[in-house]
Amino acid sequence: MKLGLVILLLTLLPLPSVQATTPLDVLHWWTSPGEHRAAEVLRQDLLQHSVIWQDHAVPGGGGDSAMAVLKAQVIAGSPPDVAQIIGPNIGEWANLGYLQPLDEWTANWPDDWHRTLDELTRFNGERVAVPISIHRINWMWLNPQVYQELGLSLPTSWSQIMRDAETLRDAGITPLAHGGQPWQVATLFETLLLSVGGPEFYRDYFVYRTPEALADSRVEEALHLLRDLKTLMDDEMQNREWQEASRMVIEGEAAMQIMGDWVKGEFVAHSMEAGQDFLCMPVPGTAQHHLYSVDTFVFFQREDDETRAAQARFAEGIMDSNTQRLFSLQKGTIPARADLSLAGFDDCAQTSAHVFREAEATGLLAPSMAHSMATTPGVESALFHVLHRFFRDDDIPVTTAREQMARVLGALRDHE
Ligand code: GAL
Repeated sequence: MKLGLVILLLTLLPLPSVQATTPLDVLHWWTSPGEHRAAEVLRQDLLQHSVIWQDHAVPGGGGDSAMAVLKAQVIAGSPPDVAQIIGPNIGEWANLGYLQPLDEWTANWPDDWHRTLDELTRFNGERVAVPISIHRINWMWLNPQVYQELGLSLPTSWSQIMRDAETLRDAGITPLAHGGQPWQVATLFETLLLSVGGPEFYRDYFVYRTPEALADSRVEEALHLLRDLKTLMDDEMQNREWQEASRMVIEGEAAMQIMGDWVKGEFVAHSMEAGQDFLCMPVPGTAQHHLYSVDTFVFFQREDDETRAAQARFAEGIMDSNTQRLFSLQKGTIPARADLSLAGFDDCAQTSAHVFREAEATGLLAPSMAHSMATTPGVESALFHVLHRFFRDDDIPVTTAREQMARVLGALRDHE
């Protein structure tokens, strides 16, 4: 067949459209081994959507440093293409006009949503964020071998946890692994408040900030418990990263850690299995409760079509059912999509999903204050400051800390 004819035929053949691969600058705070592996799942998946995830990871669990970097970038006029922003803070950025509305990109998104996530990702009714996963925070993570070897039964009450401490210490094991950073102290405190007061009281305190709740003696009970638990920690914990505390439990240097299920991502990163190599147990008194945080991505407005098209593909990739499954299996979360089966997920995840649904149905979900689900960033950092000072200085009376937090939360209530 003549060469000319071949060339003619080739020009007539429909060639597959090769989607240009576009780099997007993604700002987030997932830097621990488990977090990094989970982010890698997204990065790899987005390549299938012709998006290059240009990693802009800001170290510092809880995201405070990442939000400071984001603000600096925005002030400097170079916001990232994509950012991990969570909670009502999303609305603040949308209100300033920085965020790309997503409604034109959501045609293939599922209809079935958790109401809480639907509300969280909208501003003035318009979708402005894409949710990837839900964390449960009121967990204890245990090294079962430590309890077995010492003949200790698994802890189900605070009094038992306090009682077991001596046996653990005598065996050279730290009863409670913790990092004394402000966000970690605040995460522990909110979990204790939920434990002593329940979800209604928790919501009255952090969400509605009623004068009665702000003055309630259960706040002091939670502060006393925080001080008691500090006696179970080791002296080196002051500025320890959370994943380092997880490592102590993984290696049997410590018996347990109280923290959100991002800790599970660390166990998974060490190929450990729930129920066997590690245990997840609800913090005493909170088995029916779900203290949650939701991870979400937002997109900063862009003029050029190529970046906007890539942002749309990024959003589509994040909402992909398989991506959400694979991410959550690594990250320790449950998928944000409400329509996904959890077949293949461990008991920790199955429990988190069940309790989340039940609590949402009864209006008793507990939005995490420490992870930006309940208050404004300003109030959050003011509470972090009060709690951290109280935690570090045993001479500060419990009533003083309660009054200081009441002032902060009361001020927010009065200015709303
Ligand atoms: C939370 C975030 C989680 C987790 C944690 C520790 O705020 O939602 O995904 O990574 O911080 O860094």
